[in-house]
Amino acid sequence: MPESKMTATLTFDNKSIQLPMHSPSVGPDVIDIRKLYAEGDVFTYDPGFTSTAACESAITYIDGDKGELLYRGYPIEQLAEKSSYLEVCNLLLYGELPTETQLRDFVVRVTMHTMVHEQMHYFFRGFRRDSHPMATMVGVVGAMSAFYHDSLDINDEWQREVAAIRLIAKTPTIAAMAYKYSIGQPFVYPRNDLSYAANFLHMCFSVPAEPYHVNPILAKAMDRIFTLHADHEQNASTSTVRLAGSSGANPFACIAAGIACLWGPAHGGANQACLEMLREIGTVDRIPEYIARAKDKNDPFRLMGFGHRVYKNFDPRAKVMKESADEVLDLLGIHNNETLKVAKELERIALEDEYFVSKKLYPNVDFYSGIILEAMGFPTSMFTPIFALSRTVGWIAQWKEMIADKDQKIGRPRQLYVGATQRDYVDIAKR
Ligand code: CMC
Repeated sequence: MPESKMTATLTFDNKSIQLPMHSPSVGPDVIDIRKLYAEGDVFTYDPGFTSTAACESAITYIDGDKGELLYRGYPIEQLAEKSSYLEVCNLLLYGELPTETQLRDFVVRVTMHTMVHEQMHYFFRGFRRDSHPMATMVGVVGAMSAFYHDSLDINDEWQREVAAIRLIAKTPTIAAMAYKYSIGQPFVYPRNDLSYAANFLHMCFSVPAEPYHVNPILAKAMDRIFTLHADHEQNASTSTVRLAGSSGANPFACIAAGIACLWGPAHGGANQACLEMLREIGTVDRIPEYIARAKDKNDPFRLMGFGHRVYKNFDPRAKVMKESADEVLDLLGIHNNETLKVAKELERIALEDEYFVSKKLYPNVDFYSGIILEAMGFPTSMFTPIFALSRTVGWIAQWKEMIADKDQKIGRPRQLYVGATQRDYVDIAKR
């Protein structure tokens, strides 16, 4: 851990405690409070971890004020433009951009794991057809631990690696199967001659009765969506994966926990909620009504796809996503798309509105992604599963980093207890 020359002094109740500090490679310094309870008999209070670094990490960095997102130091805009999703996976997992040979080898390793155990097909059939694909994904990804017993030992580095590759390779297959199951179509096996993104489109949209040709431009847009969602440092679902993993739980169970967390509308579920909101607004003239609702303290309504815990300038992923939305709609010949019109006008108004400006609320990654995914033919229920399969690499890279971290301990937050103090049991007849 990088030590800093600075220390912090905490004074309270006539006590003074010296706390060591650490300097990150970039970003705010960190006060190390690990000995605070032992030396000061106090806890710190930080619901939502707004000021707490829960781990050391070298994977992803966000500068919320600058609107900067770096994967292993590389800006997201450069990766979205020049790289491919599997190259980004390789970067996130192993720390460096791969050489041509390393990338070829990685692509082959992932591609060889795209099929799921045949028995899993029957497992799917236990779900109702109208289950949300995220519900199915939580169950099926969790169930991978019942199918792949040879990659469950978290203390074996080789098994951890195999589990990582399996998860990256199979989550698109599982997401596509969840979709096919929900619409009553047969499952489509993966095709290993296609790219990662093209194969996903093929598994979602082809049917045995007809030939299906994947549009390479749509495959590129899909690949870019995967890249933009690949990792995002210690967000809620990643922290969930780390917390689940800190007990020694197997990687499939941990990723299932991450998927469950991602589903919430404040997190990955926002892409579905955002498109539904844009559709509900419907026409540009109804925007002021919704802006007023978002500002009303007594109305729980929030503008979905707006705001972020860390970005207080702009979300760089949203910028790339907006450009992609224009490109994809153009390619598909979708002009005068009413939802896109509402989105653009909503963004324009919100960016000028005192409420949103003063609270630094900008469009986030989920604001435009739904428009692209809908244009590609995905129903809204598939938006969050697509986020989940893209984020799997980030979750698993962070999980692997945690397992290898010597300072790692079981996650066990403390609390500010405000309940009853000790009291004696009262017999039911006397209450
Ligand atoms: N619409 C209206 N007001 C908002 C919004 C919004 N979308 N987001 C935040 N605010 C207000 C909020 O009411 C609060 O006001 P006040 O200070 O008067 O109480 C202030 O802005 C700060 O909000 P917060 O909830 O304390 O901020 P947070 O960091 O805890 O929450 C957030 C971040 C993303 C959960 C929140 O902005 C939100 O709910 N946004 C809508 C859901 C969304 O788009 N989520 C996707 C996030 S990006 C994808 C991902 O990585 O998950």
